[in-house]
Amino acid sequence: MNAIKLLRTMHADAKMRFRLILGSDNPQEAATMWQQLQPVLKLHEQMEDTYLYGPLQKQLLPGSVLGDYEQQHHADVALVDGLIQGTAELKAGTPPWRMQVAQINDLLARHIMDEEGQIFPRIEQVWDGERLEQAGQKMAAMQAGAPVVDLPEKAKALVDKAKDAISDIRS
Ligand SMILES: [Fe+2]
Ligand SMILES: [Fe+2]
Repeated sequence: MNAIKLLRTMHADAKMRFRLILGSDNPQEAATMWQQLQPVLKLHEQMEDTYLYGPLQKQLLPGSVLGDYEQQHHADVALVDGLIQGTAELKAGTPPWRMQVAQINDLLARHIMDEEGQIFPRIEQVWDGERLEQAGQKMAAMQAGAPVVDLPEKAKALVDKAKDAISDIRS
């Protein structure tokens, strides 16, 4: 699974869920859908940070759009997180609650537009199909809640460590 394709699919899914929430005239139903959407949004941003923007920041120099985007991403996420937390103080389905959720939707729509319009096309120029596929696989594993095996080197290091420990005991 290509990472960019996976993230675009998640964006479309989130937009649809917001439409359903804001379009619902049943407060209980809207509240339940909003409860379900929040962890999805959190997971999405974690997938992006862990497997896209974090590695890109390490790979690229500051001063470039992609090299600096991780910070911008954190700022956007922090702003949205604050508003998301604020919805807990409001009664679901009431006008203030709706306004708050609509504001979150607006901010995220703008965020998504930045990613899809400015950021993803640049990433596709920096990472080839294979690299995007690797990132996508890790993201999909994170999404499935499966433990992610990061690097064969890591496993090798663990085996070496265990061997050392055993030979220490024997000596
Ligand atoms: Fe994002
Ligand atoms: Fe995103």
